[in-house]
Amino acid sequence: MPTITYVQPSGEETTLDVEQETTLMRAAGSNGVEGIVGECGGQAMCATCHVYVRPEFADTLPEISDDEEEMLDCTTAERTDRSRLGCQIAVGPARDGITVDVPADQV
Ligand code: FES
Repeated sequence: MPTITYVQPSGEETTLDVEQETTLMRAAGSNGVEGIVGECGGQAMCATCHVYVRPEFADTLPEISDDEEEMLDCTTAERTDRSRLGCQIAVGPARDGITVDVPADQV
């Protein structure tokens, strides 16, 4: 099973073992990880699943779609070059161990 590590603004880390193809947003929601809301249910329509992906995983990520690009301009916390929507990134062998920083604010 791939793992995902979420790092809170406080530095607290949560590592989850998840099924293949689970998104960062779904895994967080199903396991009580704070700070990832996922208001639209994963449709790239709310930006409340904003995460900062650690640079070492940048090359493993899918292209940013037009919808994701648009929503990333609506994040509550500052958008950076590490910003992605957690609902648009599924984990699998290529992203095993992916680590993301959770923004301080989502809404
Ligand atoms: S859950 Fe709404 S944009 Fe990701």
